[in-house]
Amino acid sequence: MGKLDGKVALITGSGRGIGHSIALKLASEGARIVINDLDAEPAQETVEIIRKAGGEAVACVGSVTAPDFAERFIKTAVDSYKGIDIIVNNAGYTWDDVIQRMTDEQWYAIIDCHLTAPFRILRAAYPHIKAKAAAEAAEGCEVFRKVVNISSTSALNGNAGQMNYSSAKAGVIGMTRALSREWGRFKVNVNAVAFGLIHTRMTSSDANAGATIDIEGREIRVGVSPELIKSHAQRCPLGRAGTPQEAADAVYLFCSPESNYITGQIVAVAGAPQ
Ligand SMILES: NC(=O)c1ccc[n+]([C@@H]2O[C@H](COP(=O)([O-])OP(=O)(O)OC[C@H]3O[C@@H](n4cnc5c(N)ncnc54)[C@H](O)[C@@H]3O)[C@@H](O)[C@H]2O)c1
Repeated sequence: MGKLDGKVALITGSGRGIGHSIALKLASEGARIVINDLDAEPAQETVEIIRKAGGEAVACVGSVTAPDFAERFIKTAVDSYKGIDIIVNNAGYTWDDVIQRMTDEQWYAIIDCHLTAPFRILRAAYPHIKAKAAAEAAEGCEVFRKVVNISSTSALNGNAGQMNYSSAKAGVIGMTRALSREWGRFKVNVNAVAFGLIHTRMTSSDANAGATIDIEGREIRVGVSPELIKSHAQRCPLGRAGTPQEAADAVYLFCSPESNYITGQIVAVAGAPQ
């Protein structure tokens, strides 16, 4: 028996990194998963891993920033599994620069991915969540649904060179608090997790080697310097960066029944107080 047996979880950006670990964790607790990623290959690989382990998963490939994405994502869940119980807004990347060099394109690309896309996904989920909640209320039963938005310590503290990203991730916190007040009547717990440094592709130590990733045809630098990783470890009370599994465990807390009376909260998962 898993804690999420029968639940349907939608997770954006779940082909790699933290999202991939969230998908495996929720599937291991019995949830059926709608995987999304910009890149088809890692999305399909994640689906296969879940299926091989005896779970259920389906992929909805594409950018969360595409105008039709939200409707398509929700439709995939409803068509495949007849419901929506958990939404994790995780897809993202960084495109850093100091303010004097940051272009409008850089600004809007990051706001669109981290803030506008979750807004659209949650808006598209509304009719389904409202209808289910009304039917459950009429039967006199309480069924809790979960939204977990992914923020960052860059939002809580600010981070030089990340004005676009810090702003978008701070917007996610406002969105979380506002929606927790709107959707409490539907028994939806809306919370956010703000990660500190977690070891993934986004924060690999290749920065000095000039590593880049392709995001919708744009070549974007990724990674942080080995010096930053070292100095972070010295400052961090828990002495190191987090793993994607540890990050996923924190998201799982907000997807589990144990969080049914927690909403509108932002929890930092950073190995340090914030
Ligand atoms: N790694 C960290 O230290 C850290 C810290 C704070 C917050 N975060 C946040 O955690 C989330 C996951 O990041 P990660 O570290 O696992 O990165 P990652 O690069 O390992 O994985 C992110 C995944 O999202 C996908 N993605 C990116 N843009 C997309 C789009 N437009 N549409 C669909 N998919 C898209 C990528 O293809 C990738 O598979 C992001 O929101 C990130 O901002 C990460």
